Order: sequence, then C-alpha cells, then structure tokens
Amino acid sequence: MKDKLDKLIAAASEAVASAKDQIQLQQVKSCYLGKKSELNRLMKQLGTLPREERPEFGKKINLAKQEVEKLLKAKDEELKSSAYQTALVKDKIDVTMPGRKLGKGSLHPITLAERIIEDVLIGLGFEVAEGFDVEDEFHNFDALNTPEDHPARELTDTFYLGKDVLLRTHTSTAQIRVMETHKPPIRIISFGKTYRNDNDASHSPAFHQIEMLVIDEGINFADMKDMLNLFVSRLFGEKIGTRIRPHFFPFTEPSAEMDVQCVKCDGAGCNVCKNSGWLELGGAGMVDPYVLEAVGIDSEKYTGYAFGMGVDRIAMQMFNIPDMRMLFENDIRMLRQFG
Ligand code: DAH
Repeated sequence: MKDKLDKLIAAASEAVASAKDQIQLQQVKSCYLGKKSELNRLMKQLGTLPREERPEFGKKINLAKQEVEKLLKAKDEELKSSAYQTALVKDKIDVTMPGRKLGKGSLHPITLAERIIEDVLIGLGFEVAEGFDVEDEFHNFDALNTPEDHPARELTDTFYLGKDVLLRTHTSTAQIRVMETHKPPIRIISFGKTYRNDNDASHSPAFHQIEMLVIDEGINFADMKDMLNLFVSRLFGEKIGTRIRPHFFPFTEPSAEMDVQCVKCDGAGCNVCKNSGWLELGGAGMVDPYVLEAVGIDSEKYTGYAFGMGVDRIAMQMFNIPDMRMLFENDIRMLRQFG
C-alpha cells in the first residue's frame, strides 16, 4: 500500500514538474486529485476494509493527497511569478519617450463674447444673477406687464412644455427672479439661452441674451443713457457713437432701442450695417411701475432701468462671422479658430 502511494506521489511530482502553464497544471490536478483519480478511488474503497484497518489506511491516503496538493501549490506559485516576470519585461514602459499631444479645446465664440461683455459689466459694478431656461407665464409674461392677448404668448412664438411651463422667450425673466428675492439697491446682469419659435437664415430658435437691471432711489433715464454709453465705449472703444430711438416694451416706460455705429465701417456704411451706418444693440427703458408692484417693490420710492441685448449678433460682429448658422453648426474647423 505504502509503495503504491509513493509511486503515485512520484508520478504526480513528475507531472507537476513538466506542466508548462496554468492550464496544464489544472489538468494534472484533476488527474491526481479529481473525482476519477486513483486517490479518490482508494478513498472510496475505505468502506470495504475491515474496521480496524480503516484509520491507518485513511491517514495514508490523506497524507498522499496533502503531498500532491503541496506540489501543485508550489508549482502554481512558481508559474505565477514567472508569468509576472515575463509581463514585467514585455510590458515595460519607456517613461522617457515623448508623450502623445492632446488637442486643447477652445471656447465657443458666443461664450467668448459673453465673457468679454461680462468682464466689462462687472468692471462697471454689476453682479451676475442666474436665471432659468424653463419658466412659467408669471415670470416670462405676467410680471413683465405683458397683456393676456399679447402675440408673444402665442404658440407660434413661444415654446410651451406644458400648461404654464415654457422655455423663456427672453432673459427679462431674470429681472423678476432677482426682484422677488432681493431688495433694492439692485445692479445685476444675467446671461443665458432664450427660445422662440423662429427658424430661418437670420433667426435661430435658441439664441442668447444679456439682461441688465438697476433699481434704486432716484434712478432716471439719463442714468440709463450714461450707463449704456459707458458700456458701449468700454466694449467697442471711445470713438463708436450711439443713438437712442423711442420704442415700446410692455415692461418699460418709456422704452427705447439703442443703436451703435457700425463697428466694421465706423458708421460710413457697409454690408454689415446694410449701408445705414448703425447696428441695433438692444432694448432698454425705465422699469414700468407695474413690474415693480408685481414683485412687491414700492414704485413711489424706487425707480430703475433695464436693458436687454442679443449676444449672437454681437459675437458675429466681434469675430467677423458672416452667417448666424455657423454659430450652431459646430463645425470643428470653424471652432478651432477660437483656440
Ligand atoms: N426682453 C426684450 C426682448 O427680448 C429686450 C429688452 C427690452 C430687455 C427692453 C429689457 C428692456 O430689459 O428694458 O426683446
């Protein structure tokens, strides 16, 4: 019996030694320790032996089993460590090799224009307020004194997401949001996307606006003109002239539109300004007392002005972009030029 087991161990040892990888080692394991192995067969015979011989016999088989397991384990470790060594050599990285260059992204021209304008206005003492793209009728229309039957409220002009849920049609909503939560004095600007049901060569359904709001005691129309002139001169330079034309907005009274001299031809007339010498900058006016009252600000005590302008057209002028659609097509060849 002892002899038989010794031979078995010797054979197992030889088989283990000749295993070249984990797969072969696994085969050796199942051959010597598996269900159909000799050791297992001997173990099963245990029951057929006389009772007094069983412990001795069982012990020997177990010892033999342990011996084979030990051999397998040692070989397993050896194989693993040599696989590790091979990998170390094979996967060696030369850290002195030059790296692969990663392209640097660039800011979108609209973001660039926004940042330039933001810098100028922060320099003039404004704080930046956040608004929401998704709004309700109160903030987009009612509180801004827009009549129930105003055409801007129509489905053809405004994107409704549900009953009383819409995509804001202008950043003037930020005026209401700020006045609801802040007491005067207020001096804020707010940037963001605005949405209208418009889509052609010169209109995009999603565009960008900047809103300005100043509320304090004793603010008048001359303060507004002063501020807007200062803003234009900081943005386009001292020599660019401005003019103010009467206009109508439901949320301001009186209302005006401001034009700047064409930044391309300095007012001489060119294709950008359609030979008029002027470019429309945005709308402005003294905040209507109805708007102040809608947000609980005493219109007897406080007055203020507001101003709103589109960013997309300004970005086109700043960077000489001939077609509005180029701003939204995301052609990488065009965007890269702003890196
Ligand atoms: N909300 C207006 C629009 O989208 C622009 C505007 C006009 C904003 C006059 C103002 C303002 O703050 O006072 O056309």
